[in-house]
Amino acid sequence: MERPAPIYFDNNATTRIAPEVLDALLPFLRDQWGNPSSIYGFGRQLSRPLELAREKVAALINAEPREIIFTSGGTESINTALQSALDSQPQKRHLVITAVEHPATIKFCARLKNLGFEVTILPIGAEGQLDLQLLERSVRPDTAIVSVMAANNETGVLFPIEEIAAICRRKQVLFHTDAVQAPGKRKIDVKESGVDFLSLSAHKLYAPKGIGVLYVKRGTKFQPYVIGGGQEQGRRGGTENVAGIVGFGRAAELAMAHLNDANTRIRSLRDKLENGILKTIDNVSVNGSRDMRLPNTSNLSFPGIEAEGILLLLDEQGICASSGSACTSGSLDPSHVLLAMGCDAARARASVRFSLGIYNTEAEVDFVLKQLPAIVEKLRSQSKSVNAA
Ligand SMILES: Cc1ncc(COP(=O)(O)O)c(C=O)c1O
Repeated sequence: MERPAPIYFDNNATTRIAPEVLDALLPFLRDQWGNPSSIYGFGRQLSRPLELAREKVAALINAEPREIIFTSGGTESINTALQSALDSQPQKRHLVITAVEHPATIKFCARLKNLGFEVTILPIGAEGQLDLQLLERSVRPDTAIVSVMAANNETGVLFPIEEIAAICRRKQVLFHTDAVQAPGKRKIDVKESGVDFLSLSAHKLYAPKGIGVLYVKRGTKFQPYVIGGGQEQGRRGGTENVAGIVGFGRAAELAMAHLNDANTRIRSLRDKLENGILKTIDNVSVNGSRDMRLPNTSNLSFPGIEAEGILLLLDEQGICASSGSACTSGSLDPSHVLLAMGCDAARARASVRFSLGIYNTEAEVDFVLKQLPAIVEKLRSQSKSVNAA
């Protein structure tokens, strides 16, 4: 039997493909399935839709189309930006990142460290904030790149990208931002912010998985990371994911059209959910700054119980939420983001992330508010009786 559609509160993990996006990309799977590099018209005709999509994604972040490189996703874009900065400045062997970056940054840097590069990992305050003076002091003459995310996937906490870019400009060091969680939720303008590299991923934006973008500011030295055919003007090898790229273009258009609306509505739903939980369940705390935060994310700790129990009981009611980041869950390790913010392991393990999207409704929020108090109560009383035994 098919499962009913989920009540989906995990939009920072991935999003449903928008019907408009699916309509736009399907013809490129069904009919126009040629290879854009082919000499004949059936393939060649694909260069136009590819370039149109490039223009649309560029417009989303106020870039120029030639500054956009399509990749296989956020992870590849991030790996590429960091590696390119090292390859194009071989005399520089130091990187600066924060303790709350996505594993695509943290684990890539761990590998670089094993290869002999030096990495400074900046600590984070209790509300998820970054000490910009410390960041500035951490940049050295041999720093190849600073990489700081625009918005944290677990807590939604925002970092001041413009200020960090200004520091990096002053220090004459390259700056990359992992903006995977930002589009459609936070305005991004590469001209205003002055970043050198910026990573995006389509599947956080109501488009398919496996397609991403690396923005490279015009004039920035760039070395390709994925090497093969001469696609993307020699900057990223591999036959283009035409349908994914077209879908990303359409999703970028929709995100621009709906940014304000979606955010006002989603923010008020998120606030209703969060305030409702805080009002009806004792001893719940919000992780991360409540002001400097994406409008769709709420990360809450329910001390005394493990998030996993909450998530399983929510799942029984058809509700999807997550603990930590989906990319690392499946392991019971407490979230590195919450640990970096000074949470103890028990509180980190007791935290659940609700992340809303454009398809969430007030009725769904009401349903969670109805189910959750009993779930928490049940788990807390079970854990009390286990502890008493
Ligand atoms: C902040 C952040 N960076 C990078 C990624 C990786 O993106 P992708 O799944 O497209 O590789 C994610 C995905 O969860 C993310 O949330």
